[in-house]
Amino acid sequence: MAKTSRQAGEIRHFLLRNIPDHPRDIIRIAAEHFGVTRQTVSYHLRKLVAEKVVRARGRTSGRTFHLVGQRTSRNYELTGALEEHVVWRELVAPLLEGTPANALGICQYGLTEMLNNARDHSAGTTVQVSASRLPVGIELKVWDDGVGVFRKIEEALGLHSAREAVLELTKGKLTTDPARHSGEGIFFTSRMFDSFTLRSDGLALLHDVESGDWFIEGWSDVGGTQVTMSIDPETSRTEASVFDEFSSEAGDYAFDVTHVPVALAAIGEENLISRSQARRVLSRCNLFRKVIFDFNGVSRIGQAFADEVFRVFQEANPEINLMHMRANPEVEKMIARARSRTAAAHPEQLTLV
Ligand SMILES: Nc1ncnc2c1ncn2[C@@H]1O[C@H](COP(=O)(O)OP(=O)(O)O)[C@@H](O)[C@H]1O
Ligand SMILES: [Mg+2]
Repeated sequence: MAKTSRQAGEIRHFLLRNIPDHPRDIIRIAAEHFGVTRQTVSYHLRKLVAEKVVRARGRTSGRTFHLVGQRTSRNYELTGALEEHVVWRELVAPLLEGTPANALGICQYGLTEMLNNARDHSAGTTVQVSASRLPVGIELKVWDDGVGVFRKIEEALGLHSAREAVLELTKGKLTTDPARHSGEGIFFTSRMFDSFTLRSDGLALLHDVESGDWFIEGWSDVGGTQVTMSIDPETSRTEASVFDEFSSEAGDYAFDVTHVPVALAAIGEENLISRSQARRVLSRCNLFRKVIFDFNGVSRIGQAFADEVFRVFQEANPEINLMHMRANPEVEKMIARARSRTAAAHPEQLTLV
């Protein structure tokens, strides 16, 4: 019984997630995915239709299924007169009425930060803002027609490619306009939403909050920068809990902790071997009091790479607490070897599991 009801929940969830991409063949896809009959899937779909969560259109063979949701979308001219809080209040907030306060706060933060980015950094002429309230959650999108976020950073930092901008962006405290900005918007927005995707310059960079992982893939160029943010309105996350996570003193919200997805430093099939690759990982890490290197997805590192990060950089910056997590046994050994040679290991240094 428990198994049956769990599977019913899973089928339902699968249908809601996949109907948007497969309106015509969702029954076949779900039946194959779960190894159940089409009748079983149809039974769950009929229930969703009866609950008015899904709408069916057309007759038997040509029937398509759609999520019943509400959507709002508008284009705005990107001028100095655009006020992000007004867009929030007039376009998005009315759609999200009834959403729990913590999720609403996150949506407001993300939408206004990303819209402000389009206004202040994109050099574009138009931005499209859309918000959808779907059975699977809330989705917000901000899409400008400007220069593209990765290219902008590539040029500002003198990098070799838009791809190299990705790692820099994930570390936070990166801004191309330090007089008026602080480089926190993308860092915190990406960690507040369940999923956050930045598309630009033929690349898609996605953050998944549950696993803490970043994914980068090639993407057809959307023109400008497109940001998509999704969240379950029942999330337990709050803006404060996310600010706290990256603050070394609980409660003061100082942004002084960062999380570095080391795997993003390896471009293509590259292994992380050299001191120059280590310097890429380390650039701007001195802006933080605690740096957590996440080795998920890194199969091996070289001795010079480990030495540069865990001995040379640590000795040059003894006040910074360097931590690491999700290292496989081989990587762990390389790190331990480099650390054992340093005279300045931080006393609180621990391996995060
Ligand atoms: N829509 C955009 N178009 C072009 N560049 C962008 C866009 N959004 C962000 N950026 C670049 O990414 C950097 C980091 O953005 P963010 O984390 O919001 O920090 P901040 O806005 O404080 O600079 C910006 O300084 C800018 O160089
Ligand atoms: Mg910003």
